[in-house]
Amino acid sequence: MPNGSMRVIAAMARKGGSGKTTLTRALISAAVAAGRRVTIVDADSTGVLSTWHHRAEARDYGSPLLHLVEVQSVAAIEREIDRLYEEDLTDFVFIDTAGVGAEWSDSVAVLADHLVTPVMLSTSDFDVGEQTALWFEKLATRVDDPAALPRHHVVLNMVESKTTKADAALIQRAIQRFPVVETVMMRRNAYKDMDEKGLLHAIALERQNDPNPLMKPHVRPVVEALEEAMDILNAIIAE
Ligand SMILES: Nc1ncnc2c1ncn2[C@@H]1O[C@H](COP(=O)(O)OP(=O)(O)O)[C@@H](O)[C@H]1O
Ligand SMILES: [Mg+2]
Repeated sequence: MPNGSMRVIAAMARKGGSGKTTLTRALISAAVAAGRRVTIVDADSTGVLSTWHHRAEARDYGSPLLHLVEVQSVAAIEREIDRLYEEDLTDFVFIDTAGVGAEWSDSVAVLADHLVTPVMLSTSDFDVGEQTALWFEKLATRVDDPAALPRHHVVLNMVESKTTKADAALIQRAIQRFPVVETVMMRRNAYKDMDEKGLLHAIALERQNDPNPLMKPHVRPVVEALEEAMDILNAIIAE
C-alpha cells in the first residue's frame, strides 16, 4: 500500500551558511522523536548530512527510525522517493541541498512537497532570502504543472533570545515579504551539540541518564530545541 501521508521536505536557500543543514537536522530530530520513520537524502555534494548521519550512528546518537539513502543523480532521488512511497517505507524524506543555483536545485525542488528556506535576521540575509523567494516564484513558470509545486516556507534563523528593536523590525519585514513560519529558530548551543553528536532526542536521553547529577541542567536546553523543531515541523506540514 502506498503511504499517502508521506511528506518530502527539501531545504533550499540562495546561499550557504544560512542554516539549511542545521534546520534539516533539527527537523529530522523532531520527526524521529515523534516516532516517525525518516529517510535522509543528501543532495549536497559535500556530503555534510551523510557524514553527520554516519557519525551519529557510530556513536549511538542515531535511531532505528532513521535511514540514509545514497544517491548520485536526480533520477535516483526520484526513484527512491517513488519506491519509499509505493512500499510505505517511510513517513518523511528530508533532502538537504547545496542551495538554489547549485546542481539539481530546480529538479530536486519539484520532487518535494515542502521547501524550507532558513533566513537569518540581517539585512543582507534578507536580500538573499528575497532572491530565494523570487527563484521560487519563477519556478512556477518553468515547470509543466505549477499546481503540483511544493509549498514554500521561510524559517527565521539565529534569532537571539533577547530581541532588539532592530530584530523586531526585521521580523516584521520578513512576515510581510516571506511565507514565514510562526516559530523561529533561535541561536542555540543545542544545535551545535546536535551537529557534533546526532539526534537531539538521543542527546537529551544520554544527559538524562547520566549518573553525574551535574548533567541534569543540560537536559532542558536540548528539550527546548527539540520542542522548537517540532513546532516548526508541525507548522510546515499543517499547510
Ligand atoms: N540556530 C542556530 N544556532 C546555532 N548555530 C547555528 C544555527 N543555525 C546555523 N548555525 C551554525 O551556522 C553554521 C552554518 O549553518 P549550516 O546549517 O551548515 O548552513 P548551510 O547548510 O545553509 O550552509 C554552522 O556552523 C551551524 O552550526
Ligand atoms: Mg549545508
